[in-house]
Amino acid sequence: MSTSPGSYLRSQKILHWLIAALIALQYLAFDSIGRTFSAAMRGAGLTYPADVLGHIVVGGAVLVLMMARIALRLRHGAPSTPPEEPAPLQWLSRAAHAAFYALLLLLPISGLVAWFMQLSSPAEVHEVMTTLLLALIGLHVAAVAVHQFWWKTGLIHRMV
Ligand code: HEM
Ligand code: HEM
Repeated sequence: MSTSPGSYLRSQKILHWLIAALIALQYLAFDSIGRTFSAAMRGAGLTYPADVLGHIVVGGAVLVLMMARIALRLRHGAPSTPPEEPAPLQWLSRAAHAAFYALLLLLPISGLVAWFMQLSSPAEVHEVMTTLLLALIGLHVAAVAVHQFWWKTGLIHRMV
Protein backbone atom coordinates (compact mmCIF):
# COMPACT_ATOMS: atom_id res chain seq x y z
CA MET A 1 0.00 0.00 0.00
CA SER A 2 2.79 2.41 -0.83
CA THR A 3 1.91 4.40 -3.99
CA SER A 4 -0.06 7.70 -3.83
CA PRO A 5 -1.93 8.29 -7.11
CA GLY A 6 -3.97 11.48 -7.61
CA SER A 7 -7.32 9.70 -7.42
CA TYR A 8 -9.05 6.39 -6.77
CA LEU A 9 -9.73 4.18 -9.80
CA ARG A 10 -13.33 3.91 -11.00
CA SER A 11 -13.24 0.24 -9.96
CA GLN A 12 -12.13 1.21 -6.43
CA LYS A 13 -15.04 3.68 -6.17
CA ILE A 14 -17.55 1.11 -7.42
CA LEU A 15 -16.26 -1.48 -4.93
CA HIS A 16 -16.37 1.08 -2.07
CA TRP A 17 -20.08 1.83 -2.60
CA LEU A 18 -21.07 -1.72 -3.50
CA ILE A 19 -19.50 -3.08 -0.29
CA ALA A 20 -21.04 -0.23 1.77
CA ALA A 21 -24.48 -1.13 0.33
CA LEU A 22 -24.00 -4.85 1.08
CA ILE A 23 -22.99 -4.05 4.67
CA ALA A 24 -26.08 -1.85 5.14
CA LEU A 25 -28.20 -4.73 3.83
CA GLN A 26 -26.51 -7.15 6.24
CA TYR A 27 -27.30 -4.98 9.30
CA LEU A 28 -30.77 -3.88 8.21
CA ALA A 29 -32.23 -7.00 6.57
CA PHE A 30 -30.19 -10.10 7.45
CA ASP A 31 -29.08 -9.67 11.10
CA SER A 32 -31.47 -12.29 12.50
CA ILE A 33 -29.21 -15.29 11.75
CA GLY A 34 -28.38 -15.53 15.50
CA ARG A 35 -31.71 -17.24 16.31
CA THR A 36 -31.16 -20.07 13.80
CA PHE A 37 -27.52 -20.31 14.88
CA SER A 38 -28.49 -20.69 18.58
CA ALA A 39 -31.04 -23.39 17.66
CA ALA A 40 -28.36 -25.22 15.65
CA MET A 41 -25.95 -24.99 18.60
CA ARG A 42 -28.66 -26.56 20.81
CA GLY A 43 -28.77 -29.54 18.44
CA ALA A 44 -31.48 -28.60 15.90
CA GLY A 45 -28.97 -28.94 13.02
CA LEU A 46 -28.15 -26.34 10.35
CA THR A 47 -31.22 -25.02 8.53
CA TYR A 48 -31.37 -22.40 5.78
CA PRO A 49 -34.36 -20.03 6.03
CA ALA A 50 -34.25 -16.96 3.75
CA ASP A 51 -32.63 -14.63 6.33
CA VAL A 52 -29.79 -17.12 6.90
CA LEU A 53 -29.24 -17.63 3.17
CA GLY A 54 -29.25 -13.84 2.68
CA HIS A 55 -26.69 -13.40 5.49
CA ILE A 56 -24.36 -16.05 4.04
CA VAL A 57 -24.65 -14.84 0.42
CA VAL A 58 -24.21 -11.13 1.29
CA GLY A 59 -21.37 -11.86 3.78
CA GLY A 60 -19.66 -14.21 1.29
CA ALA A 61 -19.95 -11.55 -1.43
CA VAL A 62 -18.28 -8.99 0.89
CA LEU A 63 -15.39 -11.43 1.41
CA VAL A 64 -14.85 -12.00 -2.34
CA LEU A 65 -15.22 -8.28 -3.20
CA MET A 66 -12.81 -7.34 -0.38
CA MET A 67 -10.16 -9.62 -1.90
CA ALA A 68 -10.58 -7.84 -5.24
CA ARG A 69 -10.42 -4.51 -3.42
CA ILE A 70 -7.21 -5.41 -1.59
CA ALA A 71 -5.60 -6.54 -4.87
CA LEU A 72 -6.51 -3.17 -6.44
CA ARG A 73 -5.27 -1.25 -3.40
CA LEU A 74 -1.92 -3.07 -3.48
CA ARG A 75 -1.50 -2.52 -7.22
CA HIS A 76 -2.85 1.03 -7.56
CA GLY A 77 -2.54 2.48 -4.02
CA ALA A 78 -4.70 5.35 -2.71
CA PRO A 79 -4.41 9.17 -2.78
CA SER A 80 -2.48 10.54 0.20
CA THR A 81 -4.37 12.21 3.06
CA PRO A 82 -5.23 15.90 2.38
CA PRO A 83 -2.56 18.23 3.90
CA GLU A 84 -5.33 20.25 5.67
CA GLU A 85 -5.77 17.31 8.04
CA PRO A 86 -3.63 17.63 11.22
CA ALA A 87 -0.80 15.04 11.34
CA PRO A 88 -2.18 12.88 14.20
CA LEU A 89 -5.53 12.64 12.38
CA GLN A 90 -3.76 11.67 9.14
CA TRP A 91 -2.30 8.78 11.10
CA LEU A 92 -5.74 7.97 12.56
CA SER A 93 -7.31 7.97 9.10
CA ARG A 94 -4.69 5.52 7.76
CA ALA A 95 -5.23 3.31 10.82
CA ALA A 96 -9.02 3.44 10.36
CA HIS A 97 -8.75 2.43 6.69
CA ALA A 98 -6.43 -0.47 7.61
CA ALA A 99 -8.89 -1.51 10.35
CA PHE A 100 -11.72 -1.57 7.75
CA TYR A 101 -9.69 -3.92 5.56
CA ALA A 102 -8.87 -6.22 8.49
CA LEU A 103 -12.45 -6.25 9.86
CA LEU A 104 -14.07 -6.84 6.48
CA LEU A 105 -11.91 -9.93 5.96
CA LEU A 106 -12.10 -11.29 9.52
CA LEU A 107 -15.87 -10.72 9.90
CA PRO A 108 -16.99 -13.02 7.07
CA ILE A 109 -14.23 -15.56 7.83
CA SER A 110 -15.22 -15.78 11.53
CA GLY A 111 -18.89 -16.05 10.50
CA LEU A 112 -18.21 -18.90 8.06
CA VAL A 113 -16.10 -20.76 10.64
CA ALA A 114 -18.76 -20.27 13.37
CA TRP A 115 -21.61 -21.41 11.15
CA PHE A 116 -20.11 -24.35 9.29
CA MET A 117 -17.99 -25.70 12.17
CA GLN A 118 -20.68 -24.92 14.81
CA LEU A 119 -18.23 -23.11 17.10
CA SER A 120 -19.26 -20.55 19.72
CA SER A 121 -15.93 -18.69 20.17
CA PRO A 122 -15.69 -17.51 16.53
CA ALA A 123 -19.38 -16.52 16.81
CA GLU A 124 -18.57 -14.34 19.84
CA VAL A 125 -15.62 -12.78 17.99
CA HIS A 126 -17.96 -12.20 15.01
CA GLU A 127 -20.49 -10.39 17.21
CA VAL A 128 -17.83 -8.17 18.82
CA MET A 129 -16.49 -7.30 15.36
CA THR A 130 -19.98 -6.33 14.11
CA THR A 131 -20.09 -3.72 16.90
CA LEU A 132 -16.54 -2.51 16.13
CA LEU A 133 -17.46 -2.20 12.45
CA LEU A 134 -20.49 -0.05 13.27
CA ALA A 135 -18.33 2.23 15.46
CA LEU A 136 -15.74 2.53 12.68
CA ILE A 137 -18.42 3.40 10.11
CA GLY A 138 -19.72 6.13 12.47
CA LEU A 139 -16.19 7.55 12.85
CA HIS A 140 -15.62 7.34 9.07
CA VAL A 141 -18.81 9.20 8.18
CA ALA A 142 -18.10 11.82 10.89
CA ALA A 143 -14.57 12.31 9.46
CA VAL A 144 -15.97 12.81 5.94
CA ALA A 145 -18.45 15.38 7.35
CA VAL A 146 -15.66 17.28 9.17
CA HIS A 147 -13.66 17.35 5.90
CA GLN A 148 -16.67 18.60 4.01
CA PHE A 149 -17.96 21.27 6.36
CA TRP A 150 -14.98 22.29 8.51
CA TRP A 151 -11.76 21.85 6.53
CA LYS A 152 -13.69 22.18 3.24
CA THR A 153 -11.37 19.75 1.45
CA GLY A 154 -14.20 18.36 -0.72
CA LEU A 155 -12.99 14.87 0.27
CA ILE A 156 -16.27 13.23 -0.80
CA HIS A 157 -15.39 13.95 -4.46
CA ARG A 158 -12.54 11.45 -4.19
CA MET A 159 -15.07 8.65 -3.85
CA VAL A 160 -17.77 9.76 -6.35
C1 HEM B 1 -19.16 -8.48 6.19
C2 HEM B 1 -19.83 -9.57 6.43
C3 HEM B 1 -20.74 -9.76 7.61
C4 HEM B 1 -21.36 -8.85 8.44
C5 HEM B 1 -21.30 -7.33 8.36
C6 HEM B 1 -22.12 -9.61 9.40
C7 HEM B 1 -22.93 -9.04 10.38
C8 HEM B 1 -23.61 -9.74 11.35
C9 HEM B 1 -24.52 -9.17 12.32
C10 HEM B 1 -24.89 -7.67 12.41
C11 HEM B 1 -24.94 -10.16 13.13
C12 HEM B 1 -25.91 -10.05 14.33
C13 HEM B 1 -25.11 -9.86 15.58
C14 HEM B 1 -25.99 -9.76 16.79
O1 HEM B 1 -27.09 -10.35 16.82
O2 HEM B 1 -25.56 -9.10 17.75
C15 HEM B 1 -24.30 -11.39 12.69
C16 HEM B 1 -24.44 -12.62 13.29
C17 HEM B 1 -23.96 -13.80 12.75
N1 HEM B 1 -23.31 -13.95 11.54
FE1 HEM B 1 -22.63 -12.47 10.36
N2 HEM B 1 -21.95 -10.95 9.17
C18 HEM B 1 -21.12 -11.09 8.07
C19 HEM B 1 -20.75 -12.28 7.47
C20 HEM B 1 -21.13 -13.54 7.88
C21 HEM B 1 -20.90 -14.77 7.16
C22 HEM B 1 -20.24 -14.93 5.77
C23 HEM B 1 -21.39 -15.78 7.92
C24 HEM B 1 -21.40 -17.25 7.54
C25 HEM B 1 -22.38 -18.05 7.77
C26 HEM B 1 -21.93 -15.19 9.15
C27 HEM B 1 -22.47 -15.86 10.22
C28 HEM B 1 -23.04 -15.30 11.34
C29 HEM B 1 -23.52 -16.05 12.50
C30 HEM B 1 -23.42 -17.57 12.69
C31 HEM B 1 -24.09 -15.11 13.37
C32 HEM B 1 -24.75 -15.40 14.75
C33 HEM B 1 -23.70 -15.25 15.82
C34 HEM B 1 -24.28 -15.48 17.21
O3 HEM B 1 -25.49 -15.31 17.41
O4 HEM B 1 -23.49 -15.81 18.12
N3 HEM B 1 -21.78 -13.80 9.07
N4 HEM B 1 -23.50 -11.10 11.60
C1 HEM C 1 -19.91 0.31 5.28
C2 HEM C 1 -19.60 1.53 4.96
C3 HEM C 1 -18.21 1.98 4.53
C4 HEM C 1 -17.01 1.33 4.51
C5 HEM C 1 -16.70 -0.10 4.95
C6 HEM C 1 -16.02 2.26 3.98
C7 HEM C 1 -14.66 1.98 3.82
C8 HEM C 1 -13.73 2.85 3.31
C9 HEM C 1 -12.31 2.57 3.17
C10 HEM C 1 -11.63 1.26 3.57
C11 HEM C 1 -11.74 3.65 2.61
C12 HEM C 1 -10.26 3.83 2.27
C13 HEM C 1 -10.05 3.88 0.80
C14 HEM C 1 -9.95 2.55 0.17
O1 HEM C 1 -8.99 1.84 0.45
O2 HEM C 1 -10.84 2.20 -0.64
C15 HEM C 1 -12.78 4.64 2.40
C16 HEM C 1 -12.60 5.87 1.85
C17 HEM C 1 -13.58 6.83 1.73
N1 HEM C 1 -14.91 6.70 2.09
FE1 HEM C 1 -15.77 5.09 2.90
N2 HEM C 1 -16.65 3.45 3.70
C18 HEM C 1 -17.99 3.32 4.03
C19 HEM C 1 -18.97 4.26 3.91
C20 HEM C 1 -18.77 5.55 3.47
C21 HEM C 1 -19.79 6.59 3.46
C22 HEM C 1 -21.25 6.42 3.93
C23 HEM C 1 -19.19 7.71 2.96
C24 HEM C 1 -19.79 9.08 2.74
C25 HEM C 1 -20.30 9.75 3.74
C26 HEM C 1 -17.80 7.36 2.64
C27 HEM C 1 -16.87 8.20 2.08
C28 HEM C 1 -15.55 7.90 1.84
C29 HEM C 1 -14.58 8.85 1.27
C30 HEM C 1 -14.87 10.29 0.85
C31 HEM C 1 -13.35 8.17 1.20
C32 HEM C 1 -12.00 8.73 0.71
C33 HEM C 1 -11.17 9.08 1.92
C34 HEM C 1 -9.74 9.36 1.62
O3 HEM C 1 -9.26 9.16 0.51
O4 HEM C 1 -9.02 9.77 2.57
N3 HEM C 1 -17.59 6.05 2.99
N4 HEM C 1 -13.99 4.12 2.85
